[in-house]
Amino acid sequence: MKLLYLGAGFVGTCSAAVMADSGHDILIYDIDQIKIKMLGSGDRDLIQNCLFEDGLGDLLVQNKDQIKFSSDYNDVVKNLDTLDAVFMCLPTPEKKGSKGESDLSYYYLAAEELAKNLAKRNGEAQNKYIVIINKSTVPIEMIDETEKIMKKHGVKNFGLASNPEFLVEGKAIYGSLKPDRIVIGAWTEEDFKIIRNIYQRFYSSPTVKYIEVNPKEAAAGKLLANYYLFSKLAICYDVIGRTCETFDNLQFENLRKIISTDPRLGSWGLFDSFFAGGSCFIKDTASLAYQLEEKGVDVSYIKESLRINNFQCDNFYNRAGSEAQFSFKNKAVAILGVAFKRDTNDVRNSGAIEIVNKLLDDQVKEIKIYDPAAMWMFKKVFDVEKDSRYKVINYYNSEKDSLSGTSACMILTDWPKFREIGSVIKQKCPAPYLIMDGRRMLSAQFDELQNLGYDIIAVGSPFLKGK
Ligand SMILES: NC(=O)c1ccc[n+]([C@@H]2O[C@H](COP(=O)([O-])OP(=O)(O)OC[C@H]3O[C@@H](n4cnc5c(N)ncnc54)[C@H](O)[C@@H]3O)[C@@H](O)[C@H]2O)c1
Repeated sequence: MKLLYLGAGFVGTCSAAVMADSGHDILIYDIDQIKIKMLGSGDRDLIQNCLFEDGLGDLLVQNKDQIKFSSDYNDVVKNLDTLDAVFMCLPTPEKKGSKGESDLSYYYLAAEELAKNLAKRNGEAQNKYIVIINKSTVPIEMIDETEKIMKKHGVKNFGLASNPEFLVEGKAIYGSLKPDRIVIGAWTEEDFKIIRNIYQRFYSSPTVKYIEVNPKEAAAGKLLANYYLFSKLAICYDVIGRTCETFDNLQFENLRKIISTDPRLGSWGLFDSFFAGGSCFIKDTASLAYQLEEKGVDVSYIKESLRINNFQCDNFYNRAGSEAQFSFKNKAVAILGVAFKRDTNDVRNSGAIEIVNKLLDDQVKEIKIYDPAAMWMFKKVFDVEKDSRYKVINYYNSEKDSLSGTSACMILTDWPKFREIGSVIKQKCPAPYLIMDGRRMLSAQFDELQNLGYDIIAVGSPFLKGK
């Protein structure tokens, strides 16, 4: 089938790559020319630098004849007459300064432009049926807005559907090739049929749950699933982790073993961290709360997860002063990991952004950053051209170089290799020295490091004063 993707981000590109691999003809359009150049380069390294997703480069190179990247809208217009479906993969961040409302401006802009051009289809092309399928995470009633836009411009022969994306960044390609579920929300059997053809590879798979519902259920299911996951993290931080921080001799990992054995509870979400970041959980939870509050519902319980997450970051940082009597002023501090989690270069809503801002406010001498994949993205957030305070932030190519000459370090991303960093700390940063472990990466070595004189502040542990 002939498919158009609007938006070449994590969702659009990963989905398009899998659809190309499924034998469809893909055109993917994005307004970001640099992104399109990198992703369409056919060069695995450039693709990886742009979107760090395991397997994405290989899949795009293997299927290069099936997928065309463009930042020229004329290419979209030229193809409209023969398209079977359009996938909307636009950003829907939280509106700045709002009470959780989604910023739908990117979506509206793309939908308006699409509608205007679809309405201009001539002759035979007017009769060609096209389904507009939304993959962005949007408010529950958004499908009604999309319909209004199409009708306002006089678009004929179109269907609307919702196909929320459940990919997990860092495992997006694996997850898209072997999805646990495909959720399709549509109003008519005709639209369901077309989408079944697009997803034939998965529709016929015995291992994939192919769920057909209406478009509002699909949109609500996505928001509720993300809130549920986020709330599990908040409970882990604020109840399980806090209990382990409060009593001596409670090892978080041992409590996790006891709790996760119960299949009713499951193991996902039982990891302690200084913050749950990323592009989705926070904004989707805020959006759900906003939509319900607009309808007069008491959303204090939903909002509590957001409050806890912010408190967790503040508390982690403040423990340096309150428990280790450590001041960051005029000190060099190593930051290990700036991606919001392992296996991605995504820094959207990364807790490292909060921490670096706090260190700048506390007049730190130098922030020495190392991350195996995300430094390029992080540099864009702390652009020295925009604020001269950022000149104390420096980037290093190894853990060793970033740790060298520092008085404290903070482990902020759960990159597996950081579990081995204890030996580098011992070599480069003799005690007295403050280790702040925001991910419990060094939990197996806490005793040894404490006995060597290191002060340790870790989520899910009381303060461990160096001996
Ligand atoms: N990243 C995830 O893990 C994930 C998972 C599930 C759902 N989602 C949802 O999917 C949507 C997209 O997320 P993402 O992570 O891919 O975002 P992204 O920011 O990585 O990608 C969005 C892309 O859309 C492009 N864009 C903006 N305006 C455009 C326009 N008018 N025409 C064409 N392209 C345009 C941007 O340049 C960007 O490249 C969001 O609603 C998000 O909540 C994301």
